[in-house]
Amino acid sequence: MNEGDYVVPQHVAIIMDGNGRWAKKRKMPRTYGHVQGSKTVEKICEDAYKMGIRYLTVYAFSTENWKRPKDEVHTLMDLLRDYMKDCVKTSKKNNMRVRIIGDISKLDQDLQESIRTLEEASKENTGLNFQVALNYGGRDEILRAAKKLASECMRGEMTAGTLAQLDEPDFENYLDTRGIPAPELLIRTSGELRLSNYMLWQLAYAEFYFTDVLWPDFNKKELQKAIDYYNKRDRRFGGI
Ligand code: FPP
Repeated sequence: MNEGDYVVPQHVAIIMDGNGRWAKKRKMPRTYGHVQGSKTVEKICEDAYKMGIRYLTVYAFSTENWKRPKDEVHTLMDLLRDYMKDCVKTSKKNNMRVRIIGDISKLDQDLQESIRTLEEASKENTGLNFQVALNYGGRDEILRAAKKLASECMRGEMTAGTLAQLDEPDFENYLDTRGIPAPELLIRTSGELRLSNYMLWQLAYAEFYFTDVLWPDFNKKELQKAIDYYNKRDRRFGGI
């Protein structure tokens, strides 16, 4: 980018960490942190769009999160259930398109149904593209993509020649994020410096921004700081 140009990333990915610690600091159950965290999600969607971000992807539930205590898993699923239902209206109001990435086939039937309804209801919306990673793991996504491709080959839907020619953009069509550009910026809250199996393929060239702020306290000002940081980076994509 040229010196002096201020660029807002087209796609921002977020690992919303620290809900449990935020609640603990207030002597409240961890689940209260998730409730507050989901309110932050709604505010950040509006702020991000107003700031010029076109795609926002948040990590709501990983393939590893099933190992958490049952009541916490239940609360998270209930929050997501409520979110999918309420969002049919809010997405219309905000002109937001919502898509879920991750293996939804492992979720309760009613939640799967709500997801399909919301995706269908919001698919023509032209404002913010909001992706929720749910039962999502980066390795799992790549493995499912490889299996899809292999089964097409086995069914004879792809010739050996086409397979040999298959390039990275072609392979991206098998990922959950097909049609969605790769994030330029990853934000992780709460001071942890890990990727935790998030968007492993898509984040290959992203800038990483880590903050000690706990997710329920994250706000427009913090998002602005992350974008300011992004603007100080010199993105070379392997060049010099
Ligand atoms: C990590 O914090 C957070 C999660 C595993 C869940 C994120 C979910 C939400 C913010 C709510 C629902 C989302 C939507 C899209 C409505 P943690 O519990 O691991 O925090 P800790 O590290 O302090 O324990």
